[in-house]
Amino acid sequence: MSAIDKSEKKVLLVTGSVLSLFIFSILYARGRNNDLPECLPFNKTYLEPKVTRLDKETYQVYAVAQMWQFQPSQIVVPVGSEVDFFVTSKDVVHGFNITEKNVNMMAIYGNINKTTVKFEKPGIYKIICHEYCGIGHQGMQAEVIVNYPPGTINNKNQ
Ligand code: CUA
Repeated sequence: MSAIDKSEKKVLLVTGSVLSLFIFSILYARGRNNDLPECLPFNKTYLEPKVTRLDKETYQVYAVAQMWQFQPSQIVVPVGSEVDFFVTSKDVVHGFNITEKNVNMMAIYGNINKTTVKFEKPGIYKIICHEYCGIGHQGMQAEVIVNYPPGTINNKNQ
């Protein structure tokens, strides 16, 4: 008498293959894409909203969500900028979604979520709270304005 039935062997084989595929996909995505959202250790400095310019096209934004607004509410960067968003909340759980960008994060008190976004096209990108957070939820938004820096294409007179 065989210890393992034929059909059990099949199930084990299929399960093993699917599991390997999952592990492979995770490693593959990790290797290809460095700007997956990350979770950083909490630090009170992140509760101070700010925009820091690291160089011509690199910015850091400390985005703070609270009932019912995001601070800073308006972020202006030049076309081609790469922006690191460090997102946290001062109170309840909020959402942090940037329209037309693949950003879908939570803003949670005591927690810092980080993602990096490259803005290649000019325009106004809304930041929207997409997690119900109370009576003012539907009006909770901010914006990233992406435009050409002075002295380029847009401003011929400068
Ligand atoms: Cu904040 Cu919904």
